[in-house]
Order: sequence, then structure tokens, then C-alpha cells
Amino acid sequence: MKEEIQQIQSDALAAIEAATDEATLEQTKVDFLGKKGRLTGAAGAMRTLSKEEKPAAGQLLNAARGAITEALDTRRAGLQDDADRKSLEGLDLTLPGRPLPSGGLHPLSLLKDEAIQILRRLGFALAEGPEIETEYHCFDALNTPPEHPARNEKDTFYFDSGKLLRTHTSSVQIRTMEKDAPPIRIIAPGSAYRRDEIDATHLSVFNQLEGLCVDEDIQVGDLKGTLEFFFRALFGEDTNVRFRPHFFPFTEPSFEIDIMLHVEGHDPKWIEVAGCGMVDPAVFESLSLKRGDDAYSPDKITGFAFGMGLDRLAMIKWGIRDIRLLIENDARFLSQFS
Ligand code: DAH
Repeated sequence: MKEEIQQIQSDALAAIEAATDEATLEQTKVDFLGKKGRLTGAAGAMRTLSKEEKPAAGQLLNAARGAITEALDTRRAGLQDDADRKSLEGLDLTLPGRPLPSGGLHPLSLLKDEAIQILRRLGFALAEGPEIETEYHCFDALNTPPEHPARNEKDTFYFDSGKLLRTHTSSVQIRTMEKDAPPIRIIAPGSAYRRDEIDATHLSVFNQLEGLCVDEDIQVGDLKGTLEFFFRALFGEDTNVRFRPHFFPFTEPSFEIDIMLHVEGHDPKWIEVAGCGMVDPAVFESLSLKRGDDAYSPDKITGFAFGMGLDRLAMIKWGIRDIRLLIENDARFLSQFS
């Protein structure tokens, strides 16, 4: 019995060593360890042994099974290694990798971030409001009467509910003041919507940045100083900034801000970049009614507000001729900014 087991073991190890592929190896396993395999057969023959002989024979069988199993595992791993090595043959691992094109921020995001950073230095904090607005927050509370053209259905996207896509970010002024008492110093970048014909300078969805500063004793000088600082930080220290009287329903006095634009080969010209003004006392009065307190009493509180189109500023900053480039996702255009 002992010799037989040793013979089976050495035959098995030789067959395993000789196997050159996995299928042969599996067959070898079946031949020796399978139900009808040679070692299994030898184990069956133990029945014929005497009680005294059985333990030694059992040990021998177990040892043989262990050795064969281990040899099978080692050989299987060796064959796998060979296969792996073969499949890597001809592969030049020293070749440089293919660079992945890296992304970048959209010019509008770059401009918005820069604007926010400049105004943060002056103590303005971010505020926001909904893009689907009530007529009250978009118009009435901003002293804009029902007959004002901005409220016309031809100019504004209304929902059946009577709400609308906000035509400007100025509604955030009202929402902020309803919520918080002065002092207020906020900026609100965000989308605005109008039924404009789309062309090189108009989109029906565009981006604005609103600002509001309310406190005791805020004056036109504060407004001018803030916005001059802002536009010089954005467009360069020697930028000429001009405040031109204008009309907005919710500010009095109101101004449009122009900066002097220098383009090579052209005469310098003034170009409008923002609207602004001192918050109209009528806005504070209707707010006081709504709040039911005198936190915004026009007797003790003044403020200034401003609003600008971020798309416009991006176009000026980088000399972009057509606003539609900002929404077309053309990588040839966008990659110039990253
Ligand atoms: N909301 C105005 C617009 O969309 C811009 C504006 C003008 C905002 C004057 C202001 C402001 O805050 O004071 O045309």
C-alpha cells in the first residue's frame, strides 16, 4: 500500500510538471484526485487493511493529497504568469502616456468669481433668491407700476400661476430686506430672463450681478467710490468710469455707469456697463408696511443699489464679439480661457 501511494504521488507530480496548459492540468487533477482518480481509488482500498495498518496508511494518503494539491496550485499560478507575460510581449512600457486634455472654468464663471472677490473685499456677502418670482418681488416692491413696459407679456415669461421668470436680479434686494434688518451689504449673481430676440448682443437667459448696501448715512459718494473701485479692479487701475443720470423706478437719483473702452485701431468710446442709484424711499416705505416695523424707515436709513450684466462684462473684458459664443460650448472658444 505504502509503495502504491508513493508511486501515485510521484506519477501525479510528474504529470503536473509536464502539463503545459490549464486544460491538461485540470485533467491531471481529475485523473488523480477525482471521484475515479487513482488516489481516491487507493483510499477506497484502505477498507482491506487491518485496524493497525489503517492510521499509517491514512496519514500517507493525506500527505499525498496535500502534496498533489499544492503542486497543482503552484503549477496553475505558474501557467497564469506565463500567459500574462505573453500577453504583455511587444508592449513598450517605457512609452510616454497620452495626456488627457484638462478642463477649465467657463469665462462667465471666471468673471463672476473675480467680481465676487473684488466686492467681498469691500464687505459684500453673497445672497440669493428664486428665479421663478412673484410679480410683487420683481416689480411692485421695486416701485414698478403695473403699466411699466418691463411687465408686459411681450417682454416677460409668465407662468399660468401668475409667477414669472425674474426679469432681473433686483428682486433679491427685496427678499433680503424682508428677511434682514440693516446694515445690509449683499451681492446676488444669478440668471435673469427676458423675451428678447436672440442676436449677437442679446440672449433670453442672461446673467446679472445685483448689489445692495443699506445703512444709516449711506450717500452717493459711497455708491460712486464702490463702483469706481470695482470697475478699476476689474478692467485696470486707469479705467475711466462715468456716472450718467438715468431713470430706474426703484432708485432716485439713478445713473448708468459707462467705462471708456480702448480697442486698438478704434477711437476710445464710452460703453454702458451697469445701472445704479440711491434706493428710492418709496421702496423702503412699502417694505416697512410689509415688515410691520420701522427698521427701514426712510427717515433714518439710506442705501444704494447696482445691477450689471455679467455676460456683457465678459464680452468687454475679453473682446468677445458675439454673446452666443458664451452658450454654444464650442471647445475651440472655451479652451482659450483655461
Ligand atoms: N435691474 C436693472 C436692469 O435689469 C439694473 C439695475 C439698475 C439694478 C439700477 C439696480 C439699480 O440695482 O440700482 O436693467
